[in-house]
Amino acid sequence: MSESPQTRRLGTSGLAVSAVGLGCNNFGMRLGLDESRPVIEAALEAGITLFDTSDSYADSEEILGEVLGSRRDDVVLATKFGSHLKGALGPDRGARGGRRYIRRAVERSLQRLRTDHIDLYQLHRPDPLTPIEETLAALGELVDEGKVRYIGSSNFTGWQVADADWTARTSRLPRFISAQNEYSLLERDAEAELVPACERFGVGLLPYFPLASGLLSGKYRRGADVPENTRLAAWNMTGALTDERFDVLEKLQAFADERSVTMLHLAIGGLAAQPAVSSVIAGATSVDQIRANVAAGTWQPTPDDLAALDEIVPSRRP
Ligand SMILES: NC(=O)c1ccc[n+]([C@@H]2O[C@H](COP(=O)([O-])OP(=O)(O)OC[C@H]3O[C@@H](n4cnc5c(N)ncnc54)[C@H](OP(=O)(O)O)[C@@H]3O)[C@@H](O)[C@H]2O)c1
Repeated sequence: MSESPQTRRLGTSGLAVSAVGLGCNNFGMRLGLDESRPVIEAALEAGITLFDTSDSYADSEEILGEVLGSRRDDVVLATKFGSHLKGALGPDRGARGGRRYIRRAVERSLQRLRTDHIDLYQLHRPDPLTPIEETLAALGELVDEGKVRYIGSSNFTGWQVADADWTARTSRLPRFISAQNEYSLLERDAEAELVPACERFGVGLLPYFPLASGLLSGKYRRGADVPENTRLAAWNMTGALTDERFDVLEKLQAFADERSVTMLHLAIGGLAAQPAVSSVIAGATSVDQIRANVAAGTWQPTPDDLAALDEIVPSRRP
């Protein structure tokens, strides 16, 4: 068995999370309850403490609530609201960051997760209709009531992170302690605006698609059949396997081979080494993947390793 992941603070908050978390969007979508159970059990056993889900990931919240059961307090439960649920929470007219919507969304998530509080409640995407002050105030009420411990954003741009932080501080409202955005060795655009904003405001980054949906696991090979039972096959995403991507993946594989590590170590340990990143919330569909991902998080690249990775996939830092 691999070592447990390190524990870190989420941004500058007092919330401690494992440096390797578990993204839960496979539960209810790729895996039913019986298949999800051993994966979640393995994550607990491996020392993962951050579980990230959403009210929009099919039955993921229900499955987590059921499997965690009495162990709920052993973990940091993060969920999200604000995605388009096609009217499942009643008409919202696109204002899913408004007080009216948030009050409905939180009650449903609490019920499905079988808990009386959510540790990290994240706005899944910016709401173009509702002023951020109202969203923060509505979330602040939930914090005051103890239904929510901390709040986070997702899919915000750098300026939106800055604006929300400024609004919270000047209006004496709770701050978003985390930002969840796409970020991986293959997709470094977040470094242009979002990462500097997170660093400046002490917001912890939770990168999503850290494995580029499995491309960075090393299991796809140029010219080879796409392995069955993989996300790319199941979700008809084989278009992601372009020659351009393989050019980069093959360079990463060579870099990994030279250092006697795997591509997974680069993807997870390399991302965890980025200063803004608090926890790498990789998704998994098997017990073996959980173990491999936790082990991969123990790789600590040197500054030279990071510089060499920048040569392969240029940083977008300003
Ligand atoms: N905020 C947002 O808008 C947003 C958007 C997307 C995701 N998320 C969150 O971010 C989390 C992570 O993203 P993600 O799960 O979509 O993508 P990901 O972590 O980049 O990829 C996960 C996939 O990689 C494969 N994989 C994982 N570990 C592996 C291993 N050790 N060996 C081989 N293959 C492995 C599995 O695919 P197979 O099916 O091939 O086994 C797994 O489903 C999600 O679970 C979700 O919580 C948030």
